[in-house]
Order: sequence, then structure tokens, then C-alpha cells
Amino acid sequence: MEIHVLDAMAREGFEQVIALHDRKSGLRAFLGLHDTSAGPAFGGVRRWHYRDEREALRDCLRLASAMSHKTALAELPAGGGKLVALDLPGVDWEQAYKYIGREVERLGGRFYTGPDVGTGARELGWIASETGYVTRPDESGPGELPESTAVGVFAGMGTALRLLDGDEDWSRRTVVVQGLGEVGERLARHLVRVGASVVASDIDGDRAERVADELGIELVDPSHELDVECDVFSPCAMGGIVHDLSLARLRCRVVAGAANNILARPEHGDRLHERGILFVPDFIVNAGALIRGAIFHLEGRREPVGSIGERVAVATLAVLDRAVQEGLPPARVAALEAEDRLERRRSQKE
Ligand code: NAI
Repeated sequence: MEIHVLDAMAREGFEQVIALHDRKSGLRAFLGLHDTSAGPAFGGVRRWHYRDEREALRDCLRLASAMSHKTALAELPAGGGKLVALDLPGVDWEQAYKYIGREVERLGGRFYTGPDVGTGARELGWIASETGYVTRPDESGPGELPESTAVGVFAGMGTALRLLDGDEDWSRRTVVVQGLGEVGERLARHLVRVGASVVASDIDGDRAERVADELGIELVDPSHELDVECDVFSPCAMGGIVHDLSLARLRCRVVAGAANNILARPEHGDRLHERGILFVPDFIVNAGALIRGAIFHLEGRREPVGSIGERVAVATLAVLDRAVQEGLPPARVAALEAEDRLERRRSQKE
């Protein structure tokens, strides 16, 4: 299917899309700046094996506008952007990331970039050799990013339980954590600290055993975590976990996790709602690292993780309250709320 770039930009309110080609390294990429009406756009660099450039462009537009929603709901003086690079054979990636750094530098602070799929500490180092508008993974950066995310997810979960039950008595609660990586392990640690029962899974068996031994939590085989009866199911591995087949298996009251795009499609949020399962949108609760990074860049300070948790709790409550009042699925309400806020920001700027 064809994609008409200008039509798509107008439909979704994009400011600018830049197509990048570097003769020397072979890099091909798109940089989308969705909205900078409240401040610079924030968004990582995604490097992925796209089928073709249309798929890459579509992903760039989708991810950049999602970042605007995320920054708006987190009440940051910032907007959304994304850089998507096609993972093609023969690209000299060190040179390609340095080229990206120079392009980011040329934008002069309209776009701040950071990690995403395919872009880790090594690649960020290459970008950082050319620009300061990047989240550095070392001690000169904001630090504590996975911890900030874990604290946000924990706070969002607590908010959902308080809304459902009027309390947060963790000793009565069972949480299933799918994925014990950077975020999942830290989240499990917080849950154990407050006395919750934690059941967890990870496809990396050694990692799972190590974390389970250290924290004294129960393990379940990956793919069976969906069948465990619990209060909260927390996807902290990969996105798209709530889909047609998994939906019927879930035996939880709340879904709240760090993974991006937990819902395979927006309709799956409606289906969770019909089943009486409260879905806490991932782009609200997993904003901790973004909050920490944006405040570091824009205000030159490291926001304490405790106040990141409070910010996420406030944002979660605003959306869940409106969802309950209007009887709508929270993911739909979050999107409406984000659009309202973007509209207000744009009209204030005019
Ligand atoms: P990570 O790569 O450190 O951890 C993911 C863990 O999930 C790994 O241990 C992996 O073995 C495991 N895993 C993969 N597939 C699995 C499956 N099918 N079943 C069970 N376990 C599985 O990633 P990280 O940083 O902990 O992030 C987790 C999720 O949260 C990702 O989707 C990421 O995009 C998202 N996220 C992370 C943020 C951060 O600050 N690190 C910020 C916002 C979102």
C-alpha cells in the first residue's frame, strides 16, 4: 500500500519528517518531529530490519506521535520525535551513528535522542561523540533509567489497586512479572519489599534462577505466566502480549507493565475492558526513564526516583478516574487526554 507522506503528516499533526541518506556509511533513516509546541522533541533511535522503507516510515510516524502522547501525559515541557534506521547489510554502523549525531546536532536542540531497540550503550557513545543532545549511558548522563521506569510501573500498579479496592495492601496481592530484565528485576524487588507475592518468568533461565534465588520469588515457565491467577499481570519483556489468543487466558484484575505497546491492537484494550480487566496504559506507567532524561537535559538536574513515582501515580489516576467516570477503556481515554493536552499546548503557542 502506498503512503502519502504529506497527507499522513497533516492527518497526524506532524511538524517535520526528514529522510536521511549518508553516502559514506550507507545509512538510510527517517527522523520524525511530531510536536515541539511545548518544548523539544524526545525520542530514541530505533534500528530494525524493516521489510521496506514504507514500513520504516510508518513506524517512524507511529512512534514519534506516541512519544508526543507520552510527554504530554507526563506533563513534560517536551514533545515527541523518533529516528528510525533501516538495518540493511553493508552499513558501517559506527560511521552511521556518528552521522546521526551530526544531524541531531544540526537540529540545535529541537530533538533529543536516546536508546531504543537496536541502539544501546555502544551506539549512544558514537552519537555522543558528535552531539550533546543525547542521553549518555555513563555517569555523565541522567543515570538510574531502568530504576526510574520500575518505580513508575510500581506506582501505576498501586494506583490501579487503590482505585479498585480502596487500598494498596500488598501483602494480600499477587503480581506476575513477565521478564526479569533491567526493569522487571527492579520491579520485582520493590514488590517483594512491600510484601507482595511475586511470580515471575524469563526466557533466560539462568537469569530467572539468579533473580528468583536472590529475591525469594516463585518462577513459572515462560508462556505459562498468562495462566496464573493473580491481581496484576505485569508485562516487562516485549510488546504485543495482549492479543486475540492471550486475552482469553489472562486471569488477572489489572494489566500494568513496562513493555511498550502491550496491546497488539487498540481493540484489545476494549476487549480487556469488556472482560472487566483494568488496563493501565503502558505509555503512562513506563514514562519514568523519559521523565528522568528530559528533566536532566532541560533543567540540568536528576529528578529523584521517588518523585518520578509520584508523577506517574498522578498521571495514572487522572486517566483511570476519567475512564471510570466515562465508562470508557483507559487506553482510549489516555489517547483522548493526550490529544486534548497537545491541542491546548498548540493553541497556547499560537
Ligand atoms: P531487558 O532486555 O533488560 O529485559 C527484558 C527481559 O525479558 C530479558 O531478561 C528477556 O530474557 C526477557 N524476555 C524476553 N522475552 C520473554 C518472554 N517471552 N517471556 C519472558 N521473558 C522474556 O529490557 P528492559 O530494559 O527491562 O525493558 C523491558 C521492557 O520495557 C521492554 O519492552 C522495553 O522496551 C520497555 N521499556 C523499558 C524502559 C527502560 O527504562 N529500560 C523504558 C520504557 C519501556
